[in-house]
Amino acid sequence: MPYYTSLGQIPAKRHIQFRRPDGVLYSEEVFGTEGFVGPTSTLYHIHPPTQVTGWETKYSTKSEFVETEVMRMRHLKSMDMKPKGDPVTGRVVLLGNADVEISLCVPKDAMEYHYKNGSGDECLFVHYGSGTLHTSMGTLEFHKKDYIIIPKGVIYKMVFNDPEAGDPPNRFLCIETMNTSHILPPPRYISKKTSQFLEHAPYCERDLRIPTLPMMFEDEGTFEVRIKARDCVHAYNYDHHPLDVVGWDGCYYPYCFNIDDFSPIVGKHHMPPPTHQTFEAHNFVICSFCPRVLDFHPKAIPVPYYHSNLDSDEVLYYVEGNYKARRGIGSGSFSLHPQGIAHGPHPGTVEKSLGATYTDELAVMCDTFRPLNPTKAALGIDDPDYPQSWADWKPEPVGSRSDAESSDTW
Ligand SMILES: [Fe+2]
Repeated sequence: MPYYTSLGQIPAKRHIQFRRPDGVLYSEEVFGTEGFVGPTSTLYHIHPPTQVTGWETKYSTKSEFVETEVMRMRHLKSMDMKPKGDPVTGRVVLLGNADVEISLCVPKDAMEYHYKNGSGDECLFVHYGSGTLHTSMGTLEFHKKDYIIIPKGVIYKMVFNDPEAGDPPNRFLCIETMNTSHILPPPRYISKKTSQFLEHAPYCERDLRIPTLPMMFEDEGTFEVRIKARDCVHAYNYDHHPLDVVGWDGCYYPYCFNIDDFSPIVGKHHMPPPTHQTFEAHNFVICSFCPRVLDFHPKAIPVPYYHSNLDSDEVLYYVEGNYKARRGIGSGSFSLHPQGIAHGPHPGTVEKSLGATYTDELAVMCDTFRPLNPTKAALGIDDPDYPQSWADWKPEPVGSRSDAESSDTW
């Protein structure tokens, strides 16, 4: 997180005596990154965070990638994926490499334990559903279309509300760092002097929802905290509730940001994807393609030009909106356009787009600087005809537009 905040009770200085009402010292924990020189928070626990009574290795999380030597465009249709597992075990990895893994979760069950990702940061994008994220640093209420950023090491339990009658099943996207880097706002949005979001940034501090009270539970008993590290999930048993922090301060904490609070930057001519950048980590970025007015030059072509993003694989997850100008794409679709091959508008869509003034598409993009590989689960929902969907190009007759429509996702 870029800015300093605090929650709950903290002493006047770091590393001084700070006592519980019964006189016992609270246990101070420095929760820091990058060898004590990166973003850090300082937490005050009722119990020493080292008080665990047992541990065991539960299951492997190592993803098996297939077709690693196949370079082709893909269209993964995820909307029919059946609910399974809980908000952690139900995550199905679809694409990944040594820097990032992208999974989709349609949870069926509630989490009966707390979880800590000890190997990477998580960016969860809630497509459908709402609920509460109980974390060691406070409570976050989450809603449809929220990004939830959970930095490495934060203990949490994700509790979904039951969907209303007629609502689709709860569903979220998970983008997780596999290279120990952290998911942060792009540095160019942030003042080097004050860590404040700058005027040109498409969102700012007011848009970020940070943890609130309550953050502490004093239940007695035995509690399981599952910790992901070294490509495995381990179960650690605590003899006290793992959410026992009475206060913390610092710049390292989970938060929510709703994609509808992203303020798109528009232009006279077509704006490139970095305009839509929302977060980044080492070797990948996350962008938000939000409803917006389109390019306003009188001869503007509002669909993206053909492009070779030579150093990136591009993944788009389509959330909602009108996708008529993109063949076969629907809500819940993933498209993967790999580096090494150009891509762009589908045949018949360029002339049709002329005169369009607005797009209501909403999509999340993840661009990676190293090739992404699919898993078996991805192949199971892959549309093998997608690479052929550009094949029937022929010159579009001038004025072929009948009702200007544009798809501005890249
Ligand atoms: Fe693209």
